[in-house]
Amino acid sequence: MGFPERRLRRLRRTERLRDMVRETVLGPADLIAPLFVKEGAVRPMPIKALPGQMQHAPTSLIEECGALVEAGVPAVMLFGIPAHKDETGSAAWDPSGVVQQTLRQVRAEAGDRLVLIPDLCLCEYTSHGHCGILSGRAVDNDATLEAYARIAVSYAEAGADFVAPSGMMDGQVRAIRHALDAAGHAGVGILAYAAKYASAFFEPFRHAAESAPRFGDRRAYQLDPANADEALREVRLDIDEGADIVMVKPALPYLDVLARVKAAFGMPTAAYHVSGEYVMLKAAAANGWLDETRAMLEVLTAIKRAGADLILTYFARPAADRLRRG
Ligand code: PBG
Ligand code: ZN
Repeated sequence: MGFPERRLRRLRRTERLRDMVRETVLGPADLIAPLFVKEGAVRPMPIKALPGQMQHAPTSLIEECGALVEAGVPAVMLFGIPAHKDETGSAAWDPSGVVQQTLRQVRAEAGDRLVLIPDLCLCEYTSHGHCGILSGRAVDNDATLEAYARIAVSYAEAGADFVAPSGMMDGQVRAIRHALDAAGHAGVGILAYAAKYASAFFEPFRHAAESAPRFGDRRAYQLDPANADEALREVRLDIDEGADIVMVKPALPYLDVLARVKAAFGMPTAAYHVSGEYVMLKAAAANGWLDETRAMLEVLTAIKRAGADLILTYFARPAADRLRRG
């Protein structure tokens, strides 16, 4: 039976009907807020490249965490900006480093009301800005794994619920899982940046986190945007190595990859709506070219529809506030 008996518009006639047949419902519990904390900062500094976001001082970060809990956002992703960088990024595994101190402070304030997930990488901590330890001008994969393992244990000791390795080294999930288990942190999970692309859309983040590479780029470790089968191989390996949650990043240009990952593995799957995706909407809205709230909700709903159980987004707080108001 087709038209005229079949009329799909019947289901769209009223708000109530549309609510009844909606397939994807976005909620605050789907969101994870990325937050930046800068060592030595005494007040929050707005990030020019990332409108609406701050490099936080400890006090303002704790306030922001409180507001997120209020809004129903269950988790934060923490990025640290250390006062001192060196060749190996040693501040990253300092037990009194900026992320470690922040984890302890937020835990003391928020208890179990907020899941704490530090991003685990070296690019914010190395003087050269690459995600690992160099040998010549290339990142030495296996030497980097030892550093990642040390960082993971120090984050776990400071109270992390999860760690989120984002450096795209081969074997990073396995190295971190072994180190956590050996140190008595079997309960600490791994949110793996499993399919992370060498993307132009990370640019604003690198200003925010002061983590741009001083030479070259990240194409020797991050995925080629042209490849999707390879992304599935990356995700499969991370699952085999012990990832609890897998992530695809960026989100919108890779919705096909996200959908394939969710369908192939059925794992808890996250997508990172990254800095460049965020600023495109902010810039267009600032120019009056589109409605920010509608565009934000449409984009986040689309990411969930494509297969994301969790969405990392700089819109976490405004989106959660908006969704709670209904
Ligand atoms: C660090 C890291 C990056 C992002 C998250 N973790 C940048 C990069 O790989 O250069 C990007 C996040 C964003 O753009 O919002 N490895
Ligand atoms: Zn990195």
